[in-house]
Parts: sequence; structure tokens; C-alpha cells
Amino acid sequence: MVFSGKRILLIISGGIAAYKSLDLIRRLRERGASVRPVMTSGAQEFVTPLAVGALSADHVFTDLFSRQDEQDVGHIRLARDCDLVLVAPATADLMAKMANGLADDLASTVLLATDKPVLIAPAMNPHMWNHAATKRNVATLRADGIRFVGPMAGEMAESREAGVGRMAEPLEIVAAAEVLLDTSPKPLAGRKAIVTSGPTHEPIDPVRYIANRSSGRQGHAIAAALARLGADVTLVSGPVTIADPTGVRTIHVERAEEMRDAVLTALPADIAVMVAAVADWRVASASDQKIKKHPGESIPTLALTENPDILKTIGHHTMRPKLVIGFAAETQDVDSNAKAKLERKGADMIVANDVSPSTGIMGGARNRVKIVSRGGIEQWPDMAKDDVAAKLAELIAVRLRQG
Ligand code: C5P
Repeated sequence: MVFSGKRILLIISGGIAAYKSLDLIRRLRERGASVRPVMTSGAQEFVTPLAVGALSADHVFTDLFSRQDEQDVGHIRLARDCDLVLVAPATADLMAKMANGLADDLASTVLLATDKPVLIAPAMNPHMWNHAATKRNVATLRADGIRFVGPMAGEMAESREAGVGRMAEPLEIVAAAEVLLDTSPKPLAGRKAIVTSGPTHEPIDPVRYIANRSSGRQGHAIAAALARLGADVTLVSGPVTIADPTGVRTIHVERAEEMRDAVLTALPADIAVMVAAVADWRVASASDQKIKKHPGESIPTLALTENPDILKTIGHHTMRPKLVIGFAAETQDVDSNAKAKLERKGADMIVANDVSPSTGIMGGARNRVKIVSRGGIEQWPDMAKDDVAAKLAELIAVRLRQG
């Protein structure tokens, strides 16, 4: 949605990463953006204007002194008739020109003439990235308001060398461009949110633990959705295999007690959404050493003790956030259990779902939830977890506005 109708001027400079720019053009266009390419002479050594032109479905601009191009569009209009100038890959040379205001070819001239936001995706050998001259240029460009995505660490395409210098992947560049182009309303701007997500691991001994099937997908999606509406989000995540969401401060914990401490440290907040599947019990005294199996000896029994209830703690806290939301993963009597939970935990809203194995919800990509509050129960249709998150974030914004 953010890209729909947006015009991106894509400057491709001369590095081997230019081959990824072809995919980048596709990714931007399939999201609804139009892409007008500018190529330096170096870029044309790596990918052809024919390929770039075919993928972008636009004229490829290469020459500052092309009489025809100057007559048709002109370099000043090229620099201004867009919503974002994206440089991918940005070579050390082009960055040096930008930092010094040089304008000796079309790309550098456009970069000097533009009044639009500029996002660059550097790509170069790690030694070039770490060179004092490049560091000076990076600092200058940042101070000039130029935005960066990457470079990433990893192996270089052209050599067996590893280090920082690899261009960000096309989808990472798309995500960074999306942030810059996003002009959607931010109803949660100035609001602080704490979200918990994922399972907890409760140690039995140094190698064993008690866990559950939570993937963290729903909680992470909610953290990201709140951030997209402008909230300042702290996500406290148990052990998960999914990536940290963008635009969110993520704190990684293992045990319920660590999760509680991290949540309490993040207070005060306006919103708390406790999505984590916190283990109700932990082993009363986890062993420091691996518990050994001795032939003939009796099987060990695990004495359990109750974990802190984080939602309940927050719901009754002196610094209680204005809006406290819990989840209720149930396999039976979903409505009545959720209503009881609302009271017991001091929550304003419970998002209840049936996690019976047949629903595939636990660990899956979709969810079917009921919103239980003192005003009643609302059933939402089966949706992707990302859509549940977006709808919930909007509901949160509405509830906060209503006070
Ligand atoms: O009591 P139950 O575990 O069903 O409650 C679920 C809700 O309470 C979820 O929002 C969950 O994140 C939260 N919870 C918690 N700390 C616990 C147990 C559950 O925050 N120890």
C-alpha cells in the first residue's frame, strides 16, 4: 500500500551487487511503485541498460549530456519528479562524490540537485568500507540527512573475503524504503507499548528445559503493527526462531522470571499486550549439573513451583498501563475462561483463541480470535496473524483515543 503510486528514482552505480538491483526493481514494481533508472557508466559494465529498462519499463538515463534526454526530461526534473531517490548499489566512489558535492556525471548531478529523501545501499569490499576516507564520507552523508540501509556482513561476491560491505538484500532495501515513504497516520505516536511474545524455557538442569509450542509469530506481529502506527515498542521475547521485528526494541529472555523483570523495567507504558505463552510452572530447584541416569536408581521426580503471572502483575501494578491486554489460549470453554481471566488478571481486554491441536493455531500462520472485554465479546474471522495484529493495533488506538 505504501508503494502504490510512488515514484522511485533508482540510481545504479558500478559494483557487482548491481545484479541484485534487477531483482530490487521487480520487488518495488510488484508493490505498486514506478521505478525510473539512472545508471553510471560503471553500472553498465555489470548489468545492461537493456535489462534494467526491460524490468523497469521506463527509459534508462545514463548520460548527463544527452541532448535528447535533456530535452525530454532534463536532469533537474529527473532529480525532483520522484518521491524517493534510491542508490543501490552505492559504491565508495559515488559516496565520495556525494559527500563532496561533485557533479561530473548524471548520477552525481541528480544527487546534488534533488530535494527528495535519499536512501543509499552501500556495497563495496570490506577494506574500502573500513577505510578512514569512506568513514569520513559516511559521517558527512549521515549529517547531510542521507539514509543508509546496510551494508551487511558476509562473504563478498567477487572474492572469498568476508566482512562488512555486502549490499543489503532487495527485500531489506524495500523495507527501508517503505519506512521513508510511509506517510500513513500515526495514531499511536508518543505512546509507549510493551509486548511479550514466544514461549519461556524453564530449566530442569543445564541441558533440559520445560517449553511449549508457541512460535512468537502473533506477539512479534503485534509489536510490529503497534510500531507501524507510531508507538515506541519494547518487545520482550522468549526463545523463538523468527527474526526481531523492524522498528521495535527487542529484549531476549529465556525464563518467566527474566521476562517479568524485563517487562517491569520497561514501565511506565501506555499499552501492555501480553502475548507470551509463559510457562505456568518452573522446576522448584533446577539442578546445576546434568541429572544423570543411574541403573537401578529410581526415576527422578520434578517438583514444580508457580511462575510469576506477568499479566496479573502488570494488571494490578501501581504503574499500570492505561490499556492492559492479555491472551487466552484455551482448548475448551473459551468464552467463560476468557471472561474470568479478564477479572482475575486486571486486564481491559482478552484476546481469546481456541488452540486445540485441530485448529493448527499454535505455531501456525493464521489465527481466529475473540475479543473479550467488559463491553462484550466480538468474534473476528479467520485471518493471517499479521492481519489480526494490524486490526488489534487499530483497536488499541481507538480505545486509547476514547480514554
Ligand atoms: O492464565 P493464562 O496462562 O491462561 O493466561 C494467559 C495470559 O496471561 C496471556 O496473556 C499470557 O501472556 C499471560 N501470562 C503471563 N504470565 C504467566 C502466565 C500467563 O503474563 N505466568
